[in-house]
Amino acid sequence: MAVERTLSIIKPDAVAKNVIGQIYTRFENAGLKVVAAKLKQLSRAEAEGFYAVHKARPFFNDLVNFMISGPVMIQVLEGENAMQTNRDLMGATDPKKAEKGTIRADFADSIDANAVHGSDSLENAAIEIAYFFAGTEVHAA
Ligand code: TYD
Repeated sequence: MAVERTLSIIKPDAVAKNVIGQIYTRFENAGLKVVAAKLKQLSRAEAEGFYAVHKARPFFNDLVNFMISGPVMIQVLEGENAMQTNRDLMGATDPKKAEKGTIRADFADSIDANAVHGSDSLENAAIEIAYFFAGTEVHAA
């Protein structure tokens, strides 16, 4: 399996719950390394740009308002099969449908406040990493 990088965001609900450390522990236990990280208050324009692919969806405005409701913890994760490994750790978008023991099953309250984001393809991972981090801010594992 190839070493990959993926973008992860701990969303405002999980930051407010003070579970950044518990979520990082799950990354570490799965063999994922944090190679870049920042705690950041997104502007409306930054959140709209990040989720531009969902612009036409009925939940877009609520999603943007949620994402700017408090700081988010943004990180680049590196490891073997990192994109899918992180998606597996996250669980399904709707926490009610997320498998037991996943981040969303354990920390998320609803489909719109669902604790974490993770890139859903390697192509999107590269785009999303470049959206938040300069090349000099991402460190070799
Ligand atoms: P999506 O890319 O479908 O899910 P995922 O985050 O698992 O890759 O959707 C992006 C975000 O949009 C999702 O994490 C939460 C929000 N969302 C809603 O608020 N309502 C919805 O019905 C859906 C599908 C998503």
